[in-house]
Amino acid sequence: MIQENPINNSTDCLPVIKYGESILRTKVRTVKDFTIIPEIVSSMYETMRYENGNGLAANQVGWDLNLLIIDTRNHDDENGYNQIIINAKIIHSEGEIIMEEGCLSIPNIRAEIKRPETIIIKFQNIDQKYYEQKYTGITSRAIQHEIDHLNGKLFIDYLSQTKRMLIKKRLLEISKTGNPSSGIIL
Ligand code: CO
Repeated sequence: MIQENPINNSTDCLPVIKYGESILRTKVRTVKDFTIIPEIVSSMYETMRYENGNGLAANQVGWDLNLLIIDTRNHDDENGYNQIIINAKIIHSEGEIIMEEGCLSIPNIRAEIKRPETIIIKFQNIDQKYYEQKYTGITSRAIQHEIDHLNGKLFIDYLSQTKRMLIKKRLLEISKTGNPSSGIIL
């Protein structure tokens, strides 16, 4: 049985690192020392909730570690999860579905992205044990997006050249000021 988020101690929320910072393009390190995880996870949850996100990767708040959190319970009654996912590997994927994505590190830019519909991942939980679990719907989508972050990949990397051109100026604005001068949905 995978533990739901067991962390309750309140910590400060952290600033979300925005597009343009090199840590978002870095492949993170495997988590080996689990003693620091509870405190990091606690601050990640504070940050995700404050920002109304349904997932967050550790390198979005400055930690070069293979750690992500998701909470999709508000978005999907049947397949929603609240989980801490450490050292995740996608071991199986199937189907294909287009869904709209956004990213706390790339504010006010959203786009329809095609990805596998269902995934099975192998990962460690905060108890250091290994688990395999299948996800679909919004949770599958959120986990794939966060695993990409941990590999230095962003959802905008999937866009066509034409669509990338449409957001070029906005990306520059985000890297300079943290926000684009106008939002866009592609
Ligand atoms: Co993101």
